[in-house]
Amino acid sequence: MSNVYQATTSAPVNIACIKYWGKRNESLILPTNSSLSVTLSQDNLRSTTTARADPSFTTDRLWLNGKEDIIKPGGRLHTCITEMKRLRAEFEAANPDQPKIASFNVHICSFNNFPTAAGLASSASGFAALVYALSRLYVLPHSPEDLSLIARRGSGSACRSLFGGFVAWDMGSDDATGSDSKARQVAPESHWPEMEALICVVNDAKKGTSSTSGMQRTVVTSALLQHRISEVVPSRMAEIERAIADKRFGDFAEITMRDSNQFHAVALDTYPPIFYMNDVSRAIIAIITEYNRLSEQPKAAYTYDAGPNAVIYALTPNVREIAQLVLYYFPQAEKVFIGGKEVEAALPEGFNEA
Ligand code: ADP
Ligand code: DP6
Ligand code: CO
Repeated sequence: MSNVYQATTSAPVNIACIKYWGKRNESLILPTNSSLSVTLSQDNLRSTTTARADPSFTTDRLWLNGKEDIIKPGGRLHTCITEMKRLRAEFEAANPDQPKIASFNVHICSFNNFPTAAGLASSASGFAALVYALSRLYVLPHSPEDLSLIARRGSGSACRSLFGGFVAWDMGSDDATGSDSKARQVAPESHWPEMEALICVVNDAKKGTSSTSGMQRTVVTSALLQHRISEVVPSRMAEIERAIADKRFGDFAEITMRDSNQFHAVALDTYPPIFYMNDVSRAIIAIITEYNRLSEQPKAAYTYDAGPNAVIYALTPNVREIAQLVLYYFPQAEKVFIGGKEVEAALPEGFNEA
């Protein structure tokens, strides 16, 4: 019997607090600004990917959610697979006792346990899982930082899903090869275990404008983007890193909400404009704004990626109250549970419904 070379791994999604939107180099996927996100826990939204290398495979192939995706020469899937094969070839050259599998074609099969291409960062978990599965298949010694450089070539946001906790993607300055445009862990999940994310699926359909084409159009047409990348993001990155280090939720929340707002303003400033949020998204913003008015410091932070779905960051003691509030306005056909206990719709004391 011949040997089986196969590995399966999962990677979680990450939801940005400081949004990546715009590339200065399309083929290397180098961003116009640094970004920062929170990686969600593995047991929630994730991509699970199996990679197998075999001498009988005649081409590289990939199936996403059971349907074959064509691997275009020079495309992102092709780049990631080629880079990983190159690392394996280097590894085999340095370790002659290892089996020679770098030249085999690979078959890759991936499933997302949440809506794909709907603005819930499937490209982030998807390409992180792909690169991670190949690194396991090839038993590579490379660090998450090294792998983040390759995941970035699949989808920019994917570089941040190689780390857990709070993660920055430093834009870097090496425009020739992009060697310093990679992810860095700002703090592990254990630094602030009370931080939770409430995912509100407003619409699970595929978005009309992909992140890739949307940001392309923004870079070409939006003057507001230039202001954002030069005047706003650099200080915000420094401030949010400090807020995380000191566990100041109110400041973390304000920066997160302001950055989501500015990202969607930049989308609107794109010509023709791009609308990722809808009426329900905007209603959730109004609800969270009124909720935050009730306390001295914000207790909830909404953020929206390139889609209508809300992610609400909050600390554990407040999550149930926020879920009750959202359910009051948006009753669900199915029961919602937090920590094994059903969430009943309710308004917090003092909440003004007007
Ligand atoms: P999202 O908001 O979900 O990240 P994008 O427009 O950024 O949407 O990217 C969606 C694309 O990412 C999909 O059309 C597919 O090409 C790719 N993708 C999503 N999930 C996976 C996966 N598990 N493995 C490989 N590629 C994936
Ligand atoms: C709004 O990483 O999906 O979610 O690099 O073209 O694949 P490509 O784009 P992608 O863009 C993510 C945009 C965002 C913000 C973020 O995750 O930082
Ligand atoms: Co994406």
